[in-house]
Amino acid sequence: MDPPLTAVDPAVAARWQRLAQRPVVLEVRGLGMRYPDRAGRPVSVLHDVSFTVRRREFITVVGPSGCGKSTLIRIIAGLTRHTSGEVLLDGRPIQGPGPDRGMVFQSYSLFPWLSVLRNVMFGLEMQGKGHDEARAEALQWLSFVGLEDKAEAWPSQLSGGQSQRVAIARALAPGPRILLMDEPFAALDPHTRAALQEHLLQIWQHIDITILFITHDIDEALWLADRVFVLQPPDAEHPGGWLQEIIPVPLLVPRTREMVATPAYRQTRAYLEQLIHPPRLAPVGERLPVFKLTKAGDEVL
Ligand SMILES: Nc1ncnc2c1ncn2[C@@H]1O[C@H](COP(=O)(O)OP(=O)(O)OP(=O)(O)O)[C@@H](O)[C@H]1O
Ligand SMILES: [Mg+2]
Repeated sequence: MDPPLTAVDPAVAARWQRLAQRPVVLEVRGLGMRYPDRAGRPVSVLHDVSFTVRRREFITVVGPSGCGKSTLIRIIAGLTRHTSGEVLLDGRPIQGPGPDRGMVFQSYSLFPWLSVLRNVMFGLEMQGKGHDEARAEALQWLSFVGLEDKAEAWPSQLSGGQSQRVAIARALAPGPRILLMDEPFAALDPHTRAALQEHLLQIWQHIDITILFITHDIDEALWLADRVFVLQPPDAEHPGGWLQEIIPVPLLVPRTREMVATPAYRQTRAYLEQLIHPPRLAPVGERLPVFKLTKAGDEVL
């Protein structure tokens, strides 16, 4: 398969060089994860995954369902313990969850029994901040995501997009080093999704945060990221989900919607599409003999 681009815009190449000099925030080395199956036998879910993420990089992770994306992010969050390899945040092994990592999930993860403001205050109070200080900071975060007027609302009174903005404010409030996002916009309609992508990019440009973002959407992956990580499910050579390729996105920052029409974007998109949806190996009819219900003369065309 051809690499995505033969020539890269010099301004983009210069940005990549600058990125490569930033300090490493997250380092994953030879990561392996096995879960026991129903009979208790270990099944490999991640196999020998290695990468580094540098400060203020925006990384998206794509790959077919079940290839281990959520498992990877849960291990980095400290919610799941890996079975081999190393995961280092600022050079220190991850032992469990911590305020240095913020998490946003696909399903709205706000506490339904707390007001919007109290949801954002929660992590700040957990850090030992007093009520007044936590309240003032939480209000600032809500205003940062444009929802200060919803401070006293209950989570059930918010739209899907508003809920995710509160979830982002809540994840960022304790000042994490890295924001871990597992398909955060997947449940939103396309219009709200595009607005939140824009919003997230603005947040990222204004605060010192590194982002690891899982998505199934190729355009979302390319439009948001500095680099796209492509995970693949197990195959003959890899007993578990594996990191097939890391694709640098040849676009400058800040992003504009016009960039999706550029040859650089289209070529990279076509390449990524091929990796994720490779051409079928055999005609569907040959692989699904059970469902071969048509006969000669039944053609659709
Ligand atoms: N707690 C668990 N116990 C056993 N197996 C698990 C557990 N959690 C996940 N798995 C298995 O690990 C594999 C990877 O799951 P994971 O949720 O990481 O995939 P994913 O790439 O996030 O998929 P999707 O795109 O559908 O969200 C799947 O085969 C899943 O069945
Ligand atoms: Mg998942």
